[in-house]
Amino acid sequence: MAMLFEPIALRSLVLPNRVVIAPMCEFSAVDGCASDWHIIHLGHLAVSGAGLLIIEATGVEPAGRISRECLGLYSDENEEALARVLKIVRKYASMPIGIQLSHAGRKASIRKPADGRGPAGEEEGGWEVVAPSPIPFAETWKTPRMLDRAGMDSVISNFVQATKRADRLGLDLLELHSAHGYLMSSYLSPIANVRTDEYGGSLENRMRFPLEIFKAVREAWPDHKPAGVRFNGSDWLEGGIDPDEAVAYAKALAAIGCDYVDVSSGGNGYANIPLSPGYQVPFAERVKRETGLPTMAVGLIREPSHAEQILQDGMADMIALGRGILNNPRWPWHAAEELGAVVEAPHQYMRAVTRTGLPTQDSTGVPSHIAQLRESRG
Ligand SMILES: Cc1cc2nc3c(=O)[nH]c(=O)nc-3n(C[C@H](O)[C@H](O)[C@H](O)COP(=O)(O)O)c2cc1C
Repeated sequence: MAMLFEPIALRSLVLPNRVVIAPMCEFSAVDGCASDWHIIHLGHLAVSGAGLLIIEATGVEPAGRISRECLGLYSDENEEALARVLKIVRKYASMPIGIQLSHAGRKASIRKPADGRGPAGEEEGGWEVVAPSPIPFAETWKTPRMLDRAGMDSVISNFVQATKRADRLGLDLLELHSAHGYLMSSYLSPIANVRTDEYGGSLENRMRFPLEIFKAVREAWPDHKPAGVRFNGSDWLEGGIDPDEAVAYAKALAAIGCDYVDVSSGGNGYANIPLSPGYQVPFAERVKRETGLPTMAVGLIREPSHAEQILQDGMADMIALGRGILNNPRWPWHAAEELGAVVEAPHQYMRAVTRTGLPTQDSTGVPSHIAQLRESRG
């Protein structure tokens, strides 16, 4: 059996396979509330046969959203709107669903990409941004307000409130966004964090606030549900986070109950990233090897055979797909067919799960892949 289609357990959650749909901002919310687009977007991905769907970066407070169209989980209205979407999606899909909680820090308050990414002025609904230090992301970006202790406590409290809302929504897994230069990531990176208090300077100090957030969230999230963290294996910048620091961060997270890591890179400043298939996998591999934590690899993994090889080589435990699965939402079906495995598919589509033709049927007319799936589940 292909490793990609073997189940994996994270606390009491069992993912039916190791294909993960990476969190992807949709810039389609209104005041943080999920819209009809989320029904379409999450709905179609939830019937793709992947093992886990992670909902996009979701702001824990209005100022923590990347853009004003970003999803939030800071109000009753936000919670109700997402409940409406999940109710419909859940009716048709059993795929485990997680959410990525986020604070965008100094990279908040931008225009949505379709309007030309870049800082949104107040006339465009923009707002003041916050960060570990008053250093803008880039020359034309807003100079952030430096968070003081009270500001940091408020951020932690908002992460905790959003965590409780995520639990009430019945979400199966929580991921904290500690990558790509957003608030948690900016505390970790010396590029954005030049504080001279106990939250800046040494790695131990730079990790302190992100770890405080994770600890508070882990305590608020039910014991039986998994919580993981996405972070950078590298900033790809001189003086930025490097793989050694990423490993140390993962170890510190593991010590306080982190169940998996999702290793990405970049975003703490403009960088030349050497893009190629699986370009971030070596970071995942190091973190996995040195911490033993269940690890997700992500970034330009497009071919099923490549995904399988990463797992076979022991470089990661799960494969997250972003653009590849938007481009081809039936990626898990095709990968399963190519690797000789089976995945869950809606009964409405059961005649279409193979590309090579009709699936064979048993004497009762049940397509063989469904029978195989039922058998594999006992
Ligand atoms: C449309 C889009 C939105 C994204 N939004 C998020 C996000 O909300 N949170 C996050 O951590 N990464 C986000 N990413 C990054 C992806 O999760 C993924 O790490 C990245 O695209 C690399 O994987 P890929 O080559 O499979 O696309 C986004 C990527 C895309 C294409």
